[in-house]
Amino acid sequence: MKMKRLTIISCLLLLGIMNSSFAQAKKEKPLYKDANAPVEKRINDLVSRMTLEEKVYQLNQVLVGNNDNPNNVGEAVKKVPAEIGSLIYFGYDPVFRNSVQRHAMEESRLGIPILFGYDVIHGFRTIYPISLGQACSWNPELVKRSCSVAAQEARISGVDWTFSPMIDVARDPRWGRVAEGYGEDPYTNAVFAVASVQGYQGTDLSNTKNIAACLKHYVGYGASEGGRDYTYSEISKQTLWNTYLPPFEAGVKAGAATLMSAFNDISGVPASSNHYTLTEVLKDKWKHDGFVVSDWDAVKQLIRQGVAGSKKEATLKAFQAGVEMDMNDRYYLQSLAELVNEGAIPIEKINDAVGRVLRVKFRLGLFDNPYIPVKAEDKRYLLPENLKTVEKLVEESIVLLKNEKNTLPLSTKSRLAVIGPMAKNKEHLLGSWSAHGKAEDVVSIYEGLESEFKNMKLLYAEGCDFDGNDTSKFAEATKVAQGADAILVCLGEKKTWSGENGSRTLSLPQIQENLLLELKKLGKPIVLILSNGRPLELNRIEPASDAIVEIWQPGVNGGRPVAGILSGRINPSGKLAMTFPYSAEQIPIYYNMRQSARKNKGGYQDIPNNPRYEFTYGLSYTTFKYGELKASQLKIKHGDKLVVEIPVTNTGIRDGAETVHWFISDPVCSITRPIKELKFFEKQVIKAGETKIFRFEVDLDRDFSYVDETGKRVLESGDYFISVKENNIIVELVN
Ligand code: BGC
Repeated sequence: MKMKRLTIISCLLLLGIMNSSFAQAKKEKPLYKDANAPVEKRINDLVSRMTLEEKVYQLNQVLVGNNDNPNNVGEAVKKVPAEIGSLIYFGYDPVFRNSVQRHAMEESRLGIPILFGYDVIHGFRTIYPISLGQACSWNPELVKRSCSVAAQEARISGVDWTFSPMIDVARDPRWGRVAEGYGEDPYTNAVFAVASVQGYQGTDLSNTKNIAACLKHYVGYGASEGGRDYTYSEISKQTLWNTYLPPFEAGVKAGAATLMSAFNDISGVPASSNHYTLTEVLKDKWKHDGFVVSDWDAVKQLIRQGVAGSKKEATLKAFQAGVEMDMNDRYYLQSLAELVNEGAIPIEKINDAVGRVLRVKFRLGLFDNPYIPVKAEDKRYLLPENLKTVEKLVEESIVLLKNEKNTLPLSTKSRLAVIGPMAKNKEHLLGSWSAHGKAEDVVSIYEGLESEFKNMKLLYAEGCDFDGNDTSKFAEATKVAQGADAILVCLGEKKTWSGENGSRTLSLPQIQENLLLELKKLGKPIVLILSNGRPLELNRIEPASDAIVEIWQPGVNGGRPVAGILSGRINPSGKLAMTFPYSAEQIPIYYNMRQSARKNKGGYQDIPNNPRYEFTYGLSYTTFKYGELKASQLKIKHGDKLVVEIPVTNTGIRDGAETVHWFISDPVCSITRPIKELKFFEKQVIKAGETKIFRFEVDLDRDFSYVDETGKRVLESGDYFISVKENNIIVELVN
């Protein structure tokens, strides 16, 4: 009885204290609420007012709304804690979003806004090509503009933060997540990391058209063993520095607000408990002042990965390594305060982590502008100028892989058979992680053809399903195709066949391949349209196809550009950002491998050793002739400026765009280096008959050096090869 009375009294007392401090906090306008005060002062002021519990809340992210991600079925919060740091927000209704934010602003003691995060990967509602396709455009400016379309749609729907870009260098096309990144090359990933960070964040995060970016998955996730998801990755420090870290360094330098710690285990130390990468490299060396969020349940996974025996230990390891925010598993919520109270984690470290989260919120302007305007959906999404931007990106991302006897363009044909499960499909053109994209928004290949080829008769048959063994629709397809001048076979992958947990071998299901082979028997030109999220193995169907067009997963506006390429209205300019192996047995195969110790030896006896299509491969309807490669000097000293140039002439009768890729090689060095390394690329439109000069201003320190295993840049004297296609020049760097 006595105990009960005591408890009631202490509760009343506590309430009294809380009430009076609440009233006090309301009375004076604290510094952190002053929009004109410098951000660092606001952070310090706010942190000094926070209790440990309030701080811990800031370091956690839980979910709200209808979670539609099959890989991450988490428990949505029933009632959002007003103090929570961040929410994964699956909604897009501004009224609901504002009500959740109001709850935080008005019902928490300090009124700290919630940071709303979501996977805006290749568009919010206006879905554009998957990142692997974007990279094939070699047009970072266009990618930047598309990311800014995504940012606008997201922010106005209440999302302040995207878990994008994914910049994991990936060399195993069986890994489903190759769809989400920019291919196999570190430099390419770095360039597109910068473009997308600039597109999402703009120059000022507080502008309500911009959102915070998140570089993921830090780091080395692309090296997951065997292309299986969530596996171990064996990465030496040398490889970490030369292959996996460069895109992240570029993204951090471009100002990316946040990073996400990865699922993989880097040679025995999981990426999410890796002090070296998360603190020594990211915070100490690169001076990143935003925060790191764990990937989904990545703190919890430390137990499965075998470096922690309990929730508390997993929390301790991840937090001490440098993960500031815990996504979904609530481990930090449950254990951080206890670890601080026990003295295992110093409060200064908590303050630093909280400060990092708050910094991003302040920079986003969330304290001063926590709510979003309520606008109707047709004022937010699929706006005509935005659709134009993403259509252009589709156009440039498409790669013409084969065009025997100028089968394409199809301008002279009058009856076209359009066959295959992808021909009228809309859903799968969206690709994985298609956010709030809707199939009904998509222009299918067939619809694109209808509006492009007004005078051509289109004959359609589905032919078969994406997989399974049912060949019953083959007969109809053959019948339909008999009446055509050319047959367009539209094959590919469902959107769930790539992306997270989407590892597969590289062949299309037999049923799709057999459909094409069946149609081939008619002896008419076969044009294969491929929509997929990874490089494919094409051994059976490549020889049977006269032309092959890789359209990736183009998003909402795919149909028209595909039709435009088929008609010749558009001259294809995409080039591969990832090697197409001859067969899966060749993996690993990528352009920047090391030299074999024996010339022309050591390959497989029973399959070719060259890939089907190599990195940067892609055809055009015109022809380009490369002139003489010239350097401003052939002997250079440290500190000199070196400029290399090559003229390229469009020798065909159509205008076209050409991307020139500049590679360097260092044949003799203290460490072995890749056969060649991409260092620069440039795309220019060249009119028929015109010559354009492509120029590469070499920065010796940046372009000739390598990074040693301690992260130090090393530039050695000696010969360097600079090459463009088969054109080479040797320059000597002297002491
Ligand atoms: C994925 C991340 C994603 C996160 C949140 C994870 O499973 O690996 O890429 O951002 O879920 O949805």
